[in-house]
Amino acid sequence: MSNTPLPSINIDDLERISNRANSVIDRLRDQVFAPGTQKTLNVRFNVKTAAQMVGRSETLIREAENDGRLPEPSKDEKTGRRLGYSLHEINNMREIFGTLPHRKESDEALVLAIQNFKGGVGKSTLVTHLSQYLALQGYRVCVIDCDSQASTTSIFGLNPDVDIDEDEETLYPFFRHGGPQDLRYALRATYWPNLALIGANLGLYDAEYELAGRMARESGFVLDRLRAGINSIREHFDVILLDPPPALGMISLSVLRSADAILIPTPPNNVDFGSTVHFLKMMTSTLTELEKVGGEHHYKFVKILTTKMNDGKSAHVAIKRMMDAIFAGDMLQSVLKDSAEIDNATANLSTVYETSGAGTRTETHKRCRAYLDAVGREVEILMRKTWPSQTEALRSEGLL
Ligand SMILES: Nc1ncnc2c1ncn2[C@@H]1O[C@H](COP(=O)(O)OP(=O)(O)O)[C@@H](O)[C@H]1O
Ligand SMILES: [Mg+2]
Repeated sequence: MSNTPLPSINIDDLERISNRANSVIDRLRDQVFAPGTQKTLNVRFNVKTAAQMVGRSETLIREAENDGRLPEPSKDEKTGRRLGYSLHEINNMREIFGTLPHRKESDEALVLAIQNFKGGVGKSTLVTHLSQYLALQGYRVCVIDCDSQASTTSIFGLNPDVDIDEDEETLYPFFRHGGPQDLRYALRATYWPNLALIGANLGLYDAEYELAGRMARESGFVLDRLRAGINSIREHFDVILLDPPPALGMISLSVLRSADAILIPTPPNNVDFGSTVHFLKMMTSTLTELEKVGGEHHYKFVKILTTKMNDGKSAHVAIKRMMDAIFAGDMLQSVLKDSAEIDNATANLSTVYETSGAGTRTETHKRCRAYLDAVGREVEILMRKTWPSQTEALRSEGLL
């Protein structure tokens, strides 16, 4: 026993603290998602925005509605006012006009990991917003939550402990010896059209031990299992986004071996910049070791993205300048600035792209959308650059 005035804390005490914290989280979730209801996408687009999204003029859309190629626009039953188009309806227009941006079959879906071994740098924020940006453009998107903390799963409206069965719906069964041979079992549709999710919960953490045990016992290269699993569902998507845990473990290594490309979010402060430098060093040495066992692995691109940037902080500006100098061509041009919109959306287990109604008309919202869209557009172009059939189109758009 210690002689300090501080009482000692045992496991029961810790459990009490944990239970108390859990009940707060549960209450928050109950507020956000009233019991029995499911999260829905309430975003609608007027005809002007629809025309931009579809890539055809308003006149052409109206013509198609008049001659029956497109359904009549939905109207409010009482007022008769047009309600605007849902993303599902926009995708239907894209289909009719032949403007869906899906990859050609000869092109491969891009597996993009948002990776950094540090927590809180904006990985899950980026994964959720990027996935929704790309779904808005009409791509077929899959998000794989590889982090047992499951923030991405929560933002997609699922309560990880209640709605996700760890023995059937996460990556965990796939990593287990004798588990399923492909990942189809874990795919679930979301309330976003063309956006599928493989969810996570705390049980996924056991995969770390499972994989470590299998590494020791088995001769095959266990760290390429995830890649094989992703290959089994790849044909259904244009892009697969991976949200790995914030630590160097078996799952993170599997993600590094699965990804075709990596985006490294880095807030421009000393600590996070230091973590990114460390991450790059670890990544290089670890990949070298892994190549000796599992064979070569190439990336189509590796880019650093400045996140949570605050222009009003001179330290941020100085470190951003240094990052630009050091990483030069390896940085994304666009920057994800620090924005209260993002924090507020996260607090409601939601995203900026899901905000609807009056909330979308504020200046802060519009500004934040502009940062997010700029990042999304840049990633979209990088993705298209990995598709050989896009070369000509990119050239004619002046992007190559
Ligand atoms: N650009 C941003 N502006 C404001 N807050 C942000 C931004 N990016 C992330 N955050 C907030 O920072 C916290 C951590 O972000 P998160 O994406 O969960 O990080 P990670 O997945 O790397 O741990 C969250 O509360 C999120 O809302
Ligand atoms: Mg996260």
